[in-house]
Amino acid sequence: MRSHYCGQLNESLVDQEVTLCGWVHRRRDHGGVIFLDMRDRDGIAQVVVDPDTPDAFANADRARSEYVLRITGRIRMRPEGTQNANMPTGLIEVLATQVEVLNTAVTPPFQLDEHGKVGEDVRLKYRYIDLRRPEMIDRLRLRSRITHSVRAYLEDNGFLDIETPILTRATPEGARDYLVPSRTHAGEFFALPQSPQLFKQLLMVAGFDRYYQIAKCFRDEDLRADRQPEFTQIDIEASFVEEDDIMGMTEEMIRRLFAEVLDVSLPQFPRMTWHDAMRRYGSDKPDLRIPLEFVDVDDLMKDVDFKVFSGPANAEDGRVAVLRVPGGAKLSRKEIDEYTKFVSIYGARGLAWIKINDRSKGIEGLQSPIVKFMEGVIETLLDRANAEDGDILFFGADRAKVVNEALGALRVKLGGDLDLYTKAWAPLWVVDFPMFERDDSGRLAALHHPFTAPACDPETLKQNPESALSRAYDMVLNGTELGGGSIRIHDQGMQRQVFEALGISDEEAREKFGFLLDGLAHGAPPHGGLAFGLDRLVMLMTGGRTIRDVIAFPKTQSAACLMTEAPGTVSNEQLKELHIRLRQKASDNTTT
Ligand code: AMO
Ligand code: AMP
Repeated sequence: MRSHYCGQLNESLVDQEVTLCGWVHRRRDHGGVIFLDMRDRDGIAQVVVDPDTPDAFANADRARSEYVLRITGRIRMRPEGTQNANMPTGLIEVLATQVEVLNTAVTPPFQLDEHGKVGEDVRLKYRYIDLRRPEMIDRLRLRSRITHSVRAYLEDNGFLDIETPILTRATPEGARDYLVPSRTHAGEFFALPQSPQLFKQLLMVAGFDRYYQIAKCFRDEDLRADRQPEFTQIDIEASFVEEDDIMGMTEEMIRRLFAEVLDVSLPQFPRMTWHDAMRRYGSDKPDLRIPLEFVDVDDLMKDVDFKVFSGPANAEDGRVAVLRVPGGAKLSRKEIDEYTKFVSIYGARGLAWIKINDRSKGIEGLQSPIVKFMEGVIETLLDRANAEDGDILFFGADRAKVVNEALGALRVKLGGDLDLYTKAWAPLWVVDFPMFERDDSGRLAALHHPFTAPACDPETLKQNPESALSRAYDMVLNGTELGGGSIRIHDQGMQRQVFEALGISDEEAREKFGFLLDGLAHGAPPHGGLAFGLDRLVMLMTGGRTIRDVIAFPKTQSAACLMTEAPGTVSNEQLKELHIRLRQKASDNTTT
């Protein structure tokens, strides 16, 4: 129906006849001449319709915003003075000879260039309108280029694209499962995969050697800006590999992707141990665009006459750390109070600070609510923090977990607020994770997942599970965990040992992962892999604020789709077929 996309028109086509199909972006009536800005996925072109072509004019006259038109006309240069150099098609216009209304449209819920005036809920309800905006089109177009580049790289490297089931058993990525009731097996449920983890391992047992999939994953967990209940992974697994093989290959994939799609050449990714990341940045996904680092001062605070500091300094799980912010002495009291409130979200009970006004004046040159307690240690403290005039030092003192989370988040916030970034892109690998962490109930839980190989032998793991490291690695970019993976356990004995450490009985392991254990017994090769969060990758590469910005039809924070109104109720017949009786009717709140 068309000869060109609107956005493709330019001065090289002057005098040619073109046919466009698209939407009326804007219509202006200039006393007898009608201007139509016609829009399609490639851009906007100006169309002029004058009364010399009465049929075309009549149709242009009845066209309204978002009507669908087909327009034929001749390209000409815009008259001097009406050219718009900011627009790709701004030097030319189309003088229409035919205007055909292909479809009308009701008044849109918002004008595309006024989307900021409506809430995100309106944009999500009318997502097909929101997706007409050039930014949204650009993001999804980039997403498509990204998956194309990734597929090409993986195919070139011998990876096979293999699909794995969506209706399956629970997979252990640590979130709640989405369940699907079975009609044919009364009282039984499928779970939607939290990732293809177990299937990809079994593909290695089967001998496929190199697998990838751009896979949908489902996790019923608390949502945040970088989490959706349904999201996409670039999922990768390979056999007869070690850490360096997977890390090298996937790092190269990301480097090539950035070069091809953004024309950005990323440096070699540095590697940092988990322990160092926590110590220096309080985070296992440090944003290395920000030059601030924690300084440990526990040893200096053990004997100060300030319980808030001496307590954690002497406690086994305590930590006292300083964050030096160059230029921060200019922060006002009000701003410091706001940062104090900010860290309280992470459980910090305060945010002590010292402003360095003039170091040469000794303690007189400092301004702080706590400096009176620090007299004996202040010079050592300032030296250790490399404090200079104009700086502020922020203190965190608490359980190490609280200090890490609070000062870690403060570091990232200050980086943004004070624009401390030293580079646009800061990728790194975080390695040498602990195998286990204690959950809130004090039980050991896998830091990655229970199929991750420990870096020690089964006996050492048994003796001292808490100090065991794993063969896991995370790729971090600009403070976001882009991907994570590991070398897997391929030996049943080791797998049993890990289940034991996790308090998973033989019976429970059999019942949940019997099929995997059987697989491991049938000649499992050494193998490992990694999965990237595609949505997060696209978000970072397009500069989106949340992953909702790069997903065509995302869910809200409460895991609902405003457009389709899913989840929704179902009929009693359907429930009956599925052998389900509701304890509570969806329409009222009384439990029966
Ligand atoms: P993991 O659970 O770390 O590992 O997930 C891999 C990557 O997926 C992304 N991601 C998410 N993105 C959006 N919304 C979510 N709710 C969400 N959850 C995770 C992150 C994360 O780094 N099977 C293992 C991988 C492996 O070991 O090979 C796994 O799923 O970017
Ligand atoms: P206070 O003794 O409660 O008046 O606190 C003195 C200073 O220490 C204030 O600036 C508090 O914000 C700060 N503070 C209190 N508790 C902590 C803590 N756990 N970590 C860091 N600073 C704290």
